[in-house]
Amino acid sequence: MDWRGKKVLVTGGAGFLGSNLCHALAARGARVTALDGFLFGGGANAANLDCDGPAIDLVRGDIRDIDLRSLCEGAATIFNLAAQTSHMGGQRDPLADIAVNAVAQVRLIQAAREAAPEAVVVHASTRQFYGRPQYLPVDEQHPVAPPDANGVSKFAGEQYWMLEHRVQGRPVVSLRLTNCYGPRLRIRDARQTFLGIWIRCALEGRPFEVWGGEQLRDMTYVDDVTAAFLAAAENPSCYGRIFNIGGSPPISLHDMAEMMVRLTNGEARYTTREFPADRASIDIGSYHANDNAFRAATLWSPKIGLEEGIARSLDWYRGRLDAYL
Ligand SMILES: NC(=O)c1ccc[n+]([C@@H]2O[C@H](COP(=O)([O-])OP(=O)(O)OC[C@H]3O[C@@H](n4cnc5c(N)ncnc54)[C@H](O)[C@@H]3O)[C@@H](O)[C@H]2O)c1
Repeated sequence: MDWRGKKVLVTGGAGFLGSNLCHALAARGARVTALDGFLFGGGANAANLDCDGPAIDLVRGDIRDIDLRSLCEGAATIFNLAAQTSHMGGQRDPLADIAVNAVAQVRLIQAAREAAPEAVVVHASTRQFYGRPQYLPVDEQHPVAPPDANGVSKFAGEQYWMLEHRVQGRPVVSLRLTNCYGPRLRIRDARQTFLGIWIRCALEGRPFEVWGGEQLRDMTYVDDVTAAFLAAAENPSCYGRIFNIGGSPPISLHDMAEMMVRLTNGEARYTTREFPADRASIDIGSYHANDNAFRAATLWSPKIGLEEGIARSLDWYRGRLDAYL
């Protein structure tokens, strides 16, 4: 698809996945608006949009109250990544969680219906609401049983978007992502993923903690996530569908920690501890995705293996640690 000159709106565009997507779109010649409310505790960082490449128009605003109509006006594609992403945050304040992940989604749906009725929407969804898997790998037919409030709100948001497809005929694709990592991830703490704080500790020469260690994860490198978003928008055969997006072959957290040690020539160290009780109750155990449906529809497949992805991430942060702490 030729993105040159196309107006694209990326909600959550200063966050981890959104900013990487903005850079890819701008490099393809799209006119990119990144909308972001810089929510406390999320991955938003102004440094995420720094680049030597084509400009990205950053609008600081909250999807709960900003005029979304004017932002949607003329958009060919809307990549919808703005979300309250903290699982513990959702448990603590489910009303704030649902205000962003469900109520504000309906605001955006209504604004887009008026201002950009033809726009393709790619929605960032999550594997979280499958809950503790009943079987592995998890396909899209797996029962939904959200383990926490954030899973409920993210499921509601996705379903409102799919409803918009069924009732209004809008081309919508929902991508249920697994754990993503790579440049521009929040590494200040463990709020975004455990790998963020592991990277920080490894680079600061401090030991990181592995909780449990036997859980399996299939991690997706951010460039592969970006490629999946683009492929979803570019393939009409995806419209109206929900897809799992997986990543590298499943690996235990313990083996991933050992990989960090290897990649830093022994400088990274870690300790293992039991899952904290408040997190254990919402933990999903092992997960890895069956994403065959998306691969078949788009010919997408992840290109960056975990070892290479972690090495690239460590290198990327080495020169930029200050901007991310
Ligand atoms: N990173 C992952 O591993 C992962 C996994 C599954 C799903 N997802 C989904 O992908 C999307 C992007 O996640 P991410 O990892 O980049 O997180 P992130 O926190 O880095 O990005 C989300 C961005 O949305 C912004 N935002 C939140 N609420 C907003 C609001 N009310 N108005 C405007 N902006 C708002 C935040 O400030 C943040 O910059 C989310 O929808 C998330 O649920 C991510």
